[in-house]
Formats: sequence, structure tokens, C-alpha cells
Amino acid sequence: MGLLVWSEKYSVNIQEIDDQHKKLIGMVGRLNDAMSEGKDKEALGIILGDLLDYTRTHFADEERLMQAVGYPDFETHKAKHTWLTCRVAELCKGYQEGRVTISREVMMFLQNWVGSHIMGTDKDYAPFLDGRGN
Ligand SMILES: [Fe+2]
Ligand SMILES: [Fe+2]
Repeated sequence: MGLLVWSEKYSVNIQEIDDQHKKLIGMVGRLNDAMSEGKDKEALGIILGDLLDYTRTHFADEERLMQAVGYPDFETHKAKHTWLTCRVAELCKGYQEGRVTISREVMMFLQNWVGSHIMGTDKDYAPFLDGRGN
């Protein structure tokens, strides 16, 4: 599995968003490291909770920016955010209740989703948000 690491190819050319994506990728990496190092349940649970919180914050910020410019694909983009937020919330709950483990498959899912969402979905709003589009 290729570890998700920030690089310029993920840039949407909006500093505020790039910084948030760096932080988000960093948090996914932190969860992956904690899993690999066999950190205890409490430690993993805290990182997972932080990831859920930050995912919500980042998505809310993006949605606010998209709405402010009347981004035409807003609803579709928002639905993708909602879907992932629900998955991560379920993961948190399942983990706390001992029904779910943070496995390589889970990490692969998170890294693939975040990487492809930035590349394939977030990049689409960039021209609208920085004034190059419409
Ligand atoms: Fe994003
Ligand atoms: Fe997004």
C-alpha cells in the first residue's frame, strides 16, 4: 500500500485549503502509524476521534466556500462529504464498542478516499473559488 503523503500534485492552489489537506493527510498518517505501532485502544480511539472532528471541520469549511461562490456541483460534493463523515463516525462508534478494528483495509480505504477526493473532487471547485472560473 502506498502511504498517502502530501505532495504538490494534491494542491488546489488555494493556500487555506492546501493547509487543511496537509493537516488531514497528516492525521490519517498518524492513525496509520499508531495502528502499525500497535498503540493501545485508548490512544487509537483518541486519534480516530480527532480525525472525525477535523474531517467535519474541513468539510464544513469547504462547503461554506463553495456555497459562497454558488458552486454548481455543490450538492454532489456535499453528498460525498456526508457519506465519508458517516463512514468515519460509524468507524469511531464501532471501534469504541469493540466491533471494529483499525486494520490495513480500513487505513487503505481512508487513504484512497482522501487522496482521490482531493484529486478528483476538490480540484474541480478550485477554478471557481480562486476566481479563474465562471
Ligand atoms: Fe477537501
Ligand atoms: Fe471536498
